[in-house]
Amino acid sequence: MAHPTNILSGKQIVLGVCGSIAAYKVAQLARDLTLAGAQVDVILTAAAARFVGPATFQALTGRPVLDDLWELPEDGVVGHITLGSQADALLIAPATAHTIARIAAGFSDDLLTTTLLATRAPVLLAPAMNPLMYEHPATQANLALLRTRGYHLLEPGVGRMAEHVSGKGRLPEPATIEGELRALLGRTTGPLRGRRLVVTAGPTREPIDPVRYVGNRSSGQMGYAIAAQARDLGAAVTLISGPTALTPPAAVDLIAVETALQMQEAVEHASVGADMLIMNAAVADFRPATAAEQKLKKTPTTHGMTLEMVTNPDIIAGLAHRHDLFKVGFAAETDDLLANAQSKLLRKGLDMIVANDAVTSISQPAITLTIIDREGVVTLDRHPKTEAAAILMAAIVERFQRRLAQQGQ
Ligand code: C5P
Repeated sequence: MAHPTNILSGKQIVLGVCGSIAAYKVAQLARDLTLAGAQVDVILTAAAARFVGPATFQALTGRPVLDDLWELPEDGVVGHITLGSQADALLIAPATAHTIARIAAGFSDDLLTTTLLATRAPVLLAPAMNPLMYEHPATQANLALLRTRGYHLLEPGVGRMAEHVSGKGRLPEPATIEGELRALLGRTTGPLRGRRLVVTAGPTREPIDPVRYVGNRSSGQMGYAIAAQARDLGAAVTLISGPTALTPPAAVDLIAVETALQMQEAVEHASVGADMLIMNAAVADFRPATAAEQKLKKTPTTHGMTLEMVTNPDIIAGLAHRHDLFKVGFAAETDDLLANAQSKLLRKGLDMIVANDAVTSISQPAITLTIIDREGVVTLDRHPKTEAAAILMAAIVERFQRRLAQQGQ
């Protein structure tokens, strides 16, 4: 079985930090990337070092922090060339109006701009500045120029800024920047680059009246972890989710739905031209035959009620004719796990089904998965859902690629 992949593990990331108060958020990012297994080499501009000192980044990354173009490393190799040429990606966060202008003009007046000229690795910029500076035609023209040169630009957030002004210019949160970096690394080298994946997650809610619904305990954790992992492997991911309390992964397209019928419409639409569908959502099998327009009332004479239910369409089975779509279903069972899952694999026309015990996994942080396809059955150890998603995606990619090879693609 293939090993799980963590796209950041062993990657060399040059993290350029510019002079903005948002630099404090990037200290957290430097730590997160390091903990995820990346080698993070921080380059500070002169202004950045006035906001957050090199000692902070050095302690968080365990690497020397670089801020001087003229200071040669101990081995004497010219630092500005080696850093850029060895990096898997460069991330500039926060990217200030000043440094964006210097990059656009092709300056090499400090270590950061020199490194940027001397690299062919992908570069992700996270602009952050006062909203008036961001909107200024000079900044906008510089950003447009950088885009045409293949730089990857993150949209700044809208909201309250440090100087009590509001508008567009906030640095996105560290988790968002990390997600975008993972997506960029995936798109550069990942095995699913160029592929489009649709992932469903969470429960559906089937309305009884305007305030009540029939639902289930699915938390969406597994589907969200799968979507994030697929993104890291390079896929363009559409995540179709029922209501959950989770923050969606960065750099995936989220389509929020509520009912099974809405999910069906979204899945059918998103699957056009897609390469793979991973149907992790706990879709309600039944819905109330009618949803009352007004809240149902009880009266002193009410003794119980009967809810008439009708069967929902089976979304993934409805796509059985799409032989070009690699389809992965899930089976959460309380009994006869293998037999039930195997019959669903065949009945729904799936390439693979992932079985789990409903009682010990639904809305729990960890899960034991059994992967079933026409070639056999593999049961994994119990893992936290993010790890389980990584192992599962590695197995899915292996089988997906094998199928493509068999089809001579
Ligand atoms: O039949 P059961 O609901 O156990 O099948 C589970 C699999 O089928 C899951 O992948 C689930 O997302 C999918 N499903 C579906 N449409 C439904 C019910 C389940 O696509 N109406």
